[in-house]
Amino acid sequence: MKYFQYYDLPNWNIVCQKLRDYVNDNPEFFSNTSLSAFRRSADGNVLANIPEITEMIKPLNCTIRVISFYILYEHTDDSWIHVDGGAHATRIILPVLNCDNTETRYYVSDSPLTELKQPNGLSYRVLDQTSNYKQVATLHVTQPAVHRVHELHGVFLPKDQVFPRITCGIGVHEDLTHLLK
Ligand SMILES: [Fe+2]
Repeated sequence: MKYFQYYDLPNWNIVCQKLRDYVNDNPEFFSNTSLSAFRRSADGNVLANIPEITEMIKPLNCTIRVISFYILYEHTDDSWIHVDGGAHATRIILPVLNCDNTETRYYVSDSPLTELKQPNGLSYRVLDQTSNYKQVATLHVTQPAVHRVHELHGVFLPKDQVFPRITCGIGVHEDLTHLLK
């Protein structure tokens, strides 16, 4: 099983630059830490500002369900290793701001999981014993990728990380796990 697959999607550099502009034009991204893992609906501002997103994902034969920003304001630790909530097992991830040298790391564990809620109300599940896991894959967040969000994962940040660190997640209606066999 693959945990992720990189894709050289059309005009992804332009999309990522426009996402960066969008974030830089919205001061709330830099001041409101309750926005962590903030989610905007697909028919909101993001798609209106960046229509290239629709064209960009066409090679993946999927349709946009939701566009969200995943925002980190501080270093993470083992307690952030988690499985995303929700029914959708895959998502498209794009680097937006301060993602160089950061990684999404995948793990396996036989520890039970406990359900928690993000400040925005979305649920996720974390390991009961944070010492009990093994890293099995590393996604470098420097280009678009389709990745699994129902497998254990966490974000690795280097010591000199600049914050906020922001990625964009595009949720789609279709299950893309067939791309990750
Ligand atoms: Fe996640």
